[in-house]
Amino acid sequence: MCGIVAYIGKKQAYPIILKGLKRLEYRGYDSAGIALLNNNKVNIYKKQGKVSNLEEYANTLDTSGNIGIGHTRWATHGLPNDINSHPHFSNDGKLALIHNGIIENYDVLKKELINRGYKFVSETDTEVLVHLIDDILKNERISLAEAVRLALNEVTGAYAIVVLSQDNPDQLVAARKSSPLVVGIGSDNEFFLASDATPIVEYTKQVVYLNDEEIAVVDINEGLKIVHLSNQEKTPYIQELELHLEALEKGGFEHFMLKEIYEQPRSIHDCFRGRLNAEEGWVALGGIKDYEQKLINANRIIMVACGTSWHACQVGEYLIEDLARINVEVEYASEFRYRNPIINENDVVIAVSQSGETADTLAALELAKHKGATILGICNVVGSSISRITDAGSYTHAGPEIGVASTKAFTAQVTILTLMALKLAHKKGTISESRFHTILSDLEAIPDKVKKILESDDKIKEIAEVYKDSQNALYLGRGSSFPVALEGALKLKEISYIHAEGYPAAEMKHGPIALIDEEMPVFVIATKGNSYEKVVSNIQEVKARKGKIIAIVTEGDVQVKELADHVIEIPDTDENLVPLLATVPLQLISYHIAVMRDCNVDQPRNLAKSVTVE
Ligand code: M6R
Repeated sequence: MCGIVAYIGKKQAYPIILKGLKRLEYRGYDSAGIALLNNNKVNIYKKQGKVSNLEEYANTLDTSGNIGIGHTRWATHGLPNDINSHPHFSNDGKLALIHNGIIENYDVLKKELINRGYKFVSETDTEVLVHLIDDILKNERISLAEAVRLALNEVTGAYAIVVLSQDNPDQLVAARKSSPLVVGIGSDNEFFLASDATPIVEYTKQVVYLNDEEIAVVDINEGLKIVHLSNQEKTPYIQELELHLEALEKGGFEHFMLKEIYEQPRSIHDCFRGRLNAEEGWVALGGIKDYEQKLINANRIIMVACGTSWHACQVGEYLIEDLARINVEVEYASEFRYRNPIINENDVVIAVSQSGETADTLAALELAKHKGATILGICNVVGSSISRITDAGSYTHAGPEIGVASTKAFTAQVTILTLMALKLAHKKGTISESRFHTILSDLEAIPDKVKKILESDDKIKEIAEVYKDSQNALYLGRGSSFPVALEGALKLKEISYIHAEGYPAAEMKHGPIALIDEEMPVFVIATKGNSYEKVVSNIQEVKARKGKIIAIVTEGDVQVKELADHVIEIPDTDENLVPLLATVPLQLISYHIAVMRDCNVDQPRNLAKSVTVE
């Protein structure tokens, strides 16, 4: 949550920072602000709302300067207004600071600073940081970096910060703890700082991912220096970015979400490329190779995640238990860490996260590590915090996901979990050779089958038109289609603001059936397989109460077609792979309904892509 970006070098900082903020806007869009150092003066520009509001305002003003910091906010403490927007500044206006995270002891620090005469103008937790650094600088004859270090030693909580100072016109000081921060190294002692690499990639591919409790000083004359909070100097580890600029553009699509839905044949293929070969009959996940036996012998595999990633874990649970016969538990990361869970050395905890930065998931992993479990990660963002604290893991290779509603990340996560289930089952001997080969071949065919589903988009749009004004919706599925129902409901509610719930189809009669009337659309995953007949009975129950059925069925289905108000056909595949296909029409339905309701599809209200607060 919150995006930060900064520049120091010979170019004009404002256009670089503004463009960077647009790239980072998916992290929060309650307000945006920039501070620029020009003619020995710190100028601050802040506006409530989107980066475009800030742009409209700042474009009428002088925005010169070669050093600056920018922020796009997802509000935690204080309303989303101009005053609470970052950057925050010292009482004499000489220091400006941007922050992503939460300062947990801000209240105590604020009281102390007020007693020492500091005036607070905002309701944010962040403002204490700038006054604290200012206070230290005023009382001790030390450098800005040292003042930042001493201040951060007094702080508890999470932060990625960048500080700009009128008295230090050649440098920026940045630091991180539990919130991400990347340093981009340009030519000629030019530096970029950002929450992720997207604002940096068009200027340089050389980056350093800061580690927790590290402070980076970027100086036009002296280059990059990193020190730990303990004052120990660190050697920067420079990495080459693999990100490509085109991946960050809409590429002709109206929204990132639609682009990302349409990318799925490619992203699923990229996810299993080099990891499976149906003809030769093998599957391999290089990243976790050394942990295969540990997984097979595990007392339990515990998966921790949030939101859509949690739904992917639910699918993974069905797959791993069914194919590899290993006990799996799926936990909401936020609940797991607060209920004193029983974990021991024989447990393997797997965190699943698109961003690799979700605060609850990170904290759950840290707890598991502390209790001696092996910790693995499945992440999309390369170099993310989860990928760096885990013992091992696999990247999903879905490419940048910009739309706040997760789509291609989900199918990539399910693909990895399918590969994992197959690998473990094969190695453990719990799957027959013929079944193993069938699923491998079916998995290889998934990208083409997703392409085929995308060809039904016009028909799906027509269905969306019928239900776009609904107040509520139900989603039903059984087995591994139950998490698909949950995911379908989450997609609809988060981007169209229609209340939607997902249920195991059989649970409907234990309560939710009371909601059904002629106004209620009920989306049912009714593909062929073990529970088909049971799902047909559930559809009958909905029809008997005049509910409207929109069914996802296997190509060639006859029985459900006769009952349903609308059917969307998906190609036949192994029952374990149905989630990879059935999810796609539900993503499209939600997308079209949201567009028809004039909702901001890529940046739904109150949400942020990367939830770095607990
Ligand atoms: O980056 P993560 O996968 O850890 O994010 C988890 C959730 O915040 C995320 O899936 C969220 O639920 C999305 N808005 C769903 O579309």
